Amino acid sequence: MGCMALRWGWGCCAPNPMLLLSLFLTAAPFGLLGEETHQVSLEVIPDELGSPQNLLHIRAVDANSTLHYVWSSLGPPAVLLVATNTPHSALSVNWSLLLSPEPDGGLVVLPKDSIQFSSALVFTRLFEFDSTNTSDAAATPPGKPYPPYSLAEFSWNNITDSLDPAILSATFRGHPMHDPNRAFANGSLAFRIQAFSRSGRPAQPPRLLHTADTCQLEVVLAGASPRGNRSLFGLEVATLTQGPDCPSMQEQHSIDDEYSPAVFQLNQLLWGSLPSGFMQWRPVAFSQKQGGRESALPCQASPLHFTLAYPLPQSPVVQAFFGSQNNFCTFNLTFGASTGPGYWDQRYLRWSMLLGMGPPPVDTLSPLVLGIMAVALGAPGLMLLAGGLVLLLRHKWHSEYQYIN
Ligand SMILES: *[C@@H]1O[C@H](CO)[C@@H](O)[C@H](O)[C@H]1NC(C)=O
Ligand SMILES: *[C@@H]1O[C@H](CO)[C@@H](O)[C@H](O)[C@H]1NC(C)=O
Ligand SMILES: *[C@@H]1O[C@H](CO)[C@@H](O)[C@H](O)[C@H]1NC(C)=O
Ligand SMILES: *[C@@H]1O[C@H](CO)[C@@H](O)[C@H](O)[C@H]1NC(C)=O
Ligand SMILES: *[C@@H]1O[C@H](CO)[C@@H](O)[C@H](O)[C@H]1NC(C)=O
Ligand SMILES: *[C@@H]1O[C@H](CO)[C@@H](O)[C@H](O)[C@H]1NC(C)=O
Ligand SMILES: *[C@@H]1O[C@H](CO)[C@@H](O)[C@H](O)[C@H]1NC(C)=O
Repeated sequence: MGCMALRWGWGCCAPNPMLLLSLFLTAAPFGLLGEETHQVSLEVIPDELGSPQNLLHIRAVDANSTLHYVWSSLGPPAVLLVATNTPHSALSVNWSLLLSPEPDGGLVVLPKDSIQFSSALVFTRLFEFDSTNTSDAAATPPGKPYPPYSLAEFSWNNITDSLDPAILSATFRGHPMHDPNRAFANGSLAFRIQAFSRSGRPAQPPRLLHTADTCQLEVVLAGASPRGNRSLFGLEVATLTQGPDCPSMQEQHSIDDEYSPAVFQLNQLLWGSLPSGFMQWRPVAFSQKQGGRESALPCQASPLHFTLAYPLPQSPVVQAFFGSQNNFCTFNLTFGASTGPGYWDQRYLRWSMLLGMGPPPVDTLSPLVLGIMAVALGAPGLMLLAGGLVLLLRHKWHSEYQYIN
């Protein structure tokens, strides 16, 4: 028994104190030091032609590179990701070209040969499903689909009004242009964009770790009338690919800690080998503004599919930058299940993700959890260590004694 306990204690589950100590020493300072060398700015690019078009440019500059994020609600909401290997690259917009039926070349990042990576994400449709008769939480689709809302046919606010350069944030808020049932009379779909000038975690769960050059998107559906009593919502996301393969979707397992109670997974989409782009999110959404464990909903992601044959609404900004010959892979995110909390509680749904270029942030154990582990496991661990030493020494004395004899 004692031996079993000893083996269990050392072998599988409880890390030994030295390992913990080294983990603590290597993990903790990372979060404290960070890389504070990026200069991050956020600006709305004014439309010289005076039409109400939203173009938001986030620029993250360090000694050797510039990352550009260009968000727009011209067409369906979309973001371009462009990484360059110079601190001096610039975005140039030709509005008359961008707003024309053939926008190719309307957006460029110069110098062109400094571009190391570029891609785009387009949010094409908002789905709604009736989950009344669906008991299987993993069913796809998660209920009877209602006609989807095309996000290309939404009208969006003037983002200048929501721009906050101090916290590097802006919000695209929209509703359908044609809404015969007045479902969005009191509601909206919002895409809140936030850039960061230093690494850290947002105050709101799921508190995903971000670095200084990443960008967070929070999608909030609020106040819209659902078409059924048990409506689940979903979002269709299209990613641009330049090779023959779709970006890869990965699921990483993480340790349940103070930042994300009860969420053991991190989903990650990677466009390719580094340097490349990534999208990270925890598979959880919230049905209340103050999202806590009680209002957490599961978020399911479908596998990615090539969509050669399937008509996606065109994004003028994507076409302006990449030209008209593009391949897209799409996937669906669905939020919630027919049982448990849902949008129906408060007509509220919030989901967030992180977008970036370069190596994705790697979550480490929080210092608090490390501290608790060190205290909780440290004391018995030290006792085991002491016990082991005693056994070893006794054995040694014993053999020396035998040897002398
Ligand atoms: C958007 O709002 C800003 C500031 O309120 C204003 O200067 C600008 O003209 C507006 N743009 C449009 C297209 O209405
Ligand atoms: C910038 O590039 C130079 C030369 O390639 C390299 O020595 C330097 O470490 C880089 N600086 C940063 C901050 O990456
Ligand atoms: C924008 O594009 C049009 C059409 O190609 C061109 O005639 C015009 O000169 C361009 N404007 C600028 C400012 O480059
Ligand atoms: C759910 O099932 C009941 C009984 O089978 C049926 O009457 C009802 O129409 C179904 N509702 C939906 C939305 O499919
Ligand atoms: C919108 O809100 C008003 C006031 O709160 C309410 O009277 C009205 O019924 C609501 N409309 C819809 C479609 O929910
Ligand atoms: C929603 O629930 C109410 C009350 O339970 C019921 O009368 C109504 O028929 C339901 N509506 C739908 C669309 O299922
Ligand atoms: C996303 O969901 C819609 C509606 O259920 C479906 O038509 C489409 O094929 C799905 N796309 C993917 C990539 O699963």
